[in-house]
Amino acid sequence: MVNLAVSLGKLNLKNPVILASGTCGYGREISPYLDLNQVGAITVKGLSYYPFSGNPPPRLREVYAGVLNSIGLENKGVYDFIQEDLPFLSSFDTRLLVNIWGETANEFVQVAQELDRFERVDALELNVSCPNIERGGAVFCSDLEILKSIVGGVRDATRKPLIVKLGPEVKEWEKTLDILENEGADILSLTNSFPALFVDVGEMDFFFKRKFAGLSGPAIKPLALKMVYEVVNYSSLPVIGMGGIVSADDALEFLLVGAKAVALGVANFVDPASALSILEGIEQYLESKGIESLEDLIGRVK
Ligand SMILES: Cc1cc2nc3c(=O)[nH]c(=O)nc-3n(C[C@H](O)[C@H](O)[C@H](O)COP(=O)(O)O)c2cc1C
Repeated sequence: MVNLAVSLGKLNLKNPVILASGTCGYGREISPYLDLNQVGAITVKGLSYYPFSGNPPPRLREVYAGVLNSIGLENKGVYDFIQEDLPFLSSFDTRLLVNIWGETANEFVQVAQELDRFERVDALELNVSCPNIERGGAVFCSDLEILKSIVGGVRDATRKPLIVKLGPEVKEWEKTLDILENEGADILSLTNSFPALFVDVGEMDFFFKRKFAGLSGPAIKPLALKMVYEVVNYSSLPVIGMGGIVSADDALEFLLVGAKAVALGVANFVDPASALSILEGIEQYLESKGIESLEDLIGRVK
């Protein structure tokens, strides 16, 4: 038996496999297909203060080795989540990470304040790859001043571990990582999807009404892995790696370059129980290499 437990600062997981936000609903949706007690953590769909209706259809498009999504952050809002889903999620022995976002910096703080009251919420994950409505729709993580106010504001609102989720829109990586560390972020997660485009040749038009959509899945894995490698080598914060992981080997690549845990996104769409086969594969790999604890594997590829 190998020890799969990992510690990301204040957040301890029984194993490194996390379900990524937006790909497992609020837990209930995936629970008939996967025993949630067996994953390291579940991250629920990004919550805003009020319910949000998201983008008009079409919202998903399969492409070579990936999926484009234009969901537009549809969600039920933090109050309905607290009423409808938190009691259900409380019956599982897994870490609960709540992904949050806002149209303004202040909305992030409001959502964090609401969730801070609940012990069951193990950590908050800030999706700073969403558009800032007050500043013409540029994503929050590309604007250092606003990023500072979000992370600092949320830090003042809660003592829970704070995960900041980054994406390819970050412009100045080193400055951004310094700010996150100084403002009290505990953990980094990356990457969010890559802004991308699809043209419907038959219709001679953009496929999505909002034109751009987010690309996820194996198509982005080597790009995501490079981002994770570079962030791990610059920042002292623990990193959750994600982007295109669909097999144990994919997960091991992220762990070997130093991610402390991994998250699965579109893998859950292909096989909602993929977390279990990936965990099994990681365990078998460690056994075959004679490594007793996963922590001893993390970061071996320098
Ligand atoms: C349909 C869909 C919805 C998503 N919703 C969210 C979300 O609400 N918040 C968030 O931070 N990331 C969201 N993501 C991004 C994923 O959590 C993940 O970062 C991304 O898909 C890359 O991982 P993957 O290639 O394994 O899917 C979403 C992704 C997809 C495909």
